[in-house]
Amino acid sequence: MKNIVVLVSGGGTNLQALIDARNMGIIKNGRISCVISSNPNAYALKRAENNNIPTRVIPRREYRDSIYYSKAILDALNEEKADLIVLAGFMTILDRCVTEAYPYRIINVHPALIPSFCGEGFYGLKVHEAVLDYGVKISGATIHFVNEKADAGAIILQGAVEVLNDDTPEVLQKRIMENVEWKLLPKAVSLFCEDKIEIINNKAYVRD
Ligand code: GAR
Repeated sequence: MKNIVVLVSGGGTNLQALIDARNMGIIKNGRISCVISSNPNAYALKRAENNNIPTRVIPRREYRDSIYYSKAILDALNEEKADLIVLAGFMTILDRCVTEAYPYRIINVHPALIPSFCGEGFYGLKVHEAVLDYGVKISGATIHFVNEKADAGAIILQGAVEVLNDDTPEVLQKRIMENVEWKLLPKAVSLFCEDKIEIINNKAYVRD
């Protein structure tokens, strides 16, 4: 049974999707062993507590910079004996001390179709604002491994939705979460736990 450690910063709807998938038996060979939040007030912590999942709070603002912060996260991941780390709405870019310690063992959900609308500064609603500003007709979400460059690791799964003329960032975000993120993140975690993701030349291939 793999130890899944989920990192969160906010509302935690993706964490909830993982908890539900685990409870429904969709994620088989893994259990959410710990939830770590960068934000002491994140509602995601409540979701974890409601499901008897141990939590840790490592507040981003208590650390001087991303390197010190990442070292604290790395210590926690090691203590938790993490087999898989899931960034589920985690709003801090981790330093390479973490990504190098866990190659192809950190999964992120990004709310756009990488390589568009991604990288530093593209997170949360800002992504959907940029999509609407540009006027693209399709957006979606990407589940990918995390490496030392923001949103640049191997892509595991992607799904698309239509962008509609009268969309607001909030409406588009909801459509993408409901139709893509909450389905594909649990699926990718399940595939990982069952060793069905193969890496060849830095690309991820699903062997289902
Ligand atoms: C999600 O849309 C997720 O894709 C995005 O933040 C939201 C978190 O929602 N993540 C990023 O932008 C990371 N770059 P949640 O807390 O309800 O899961």
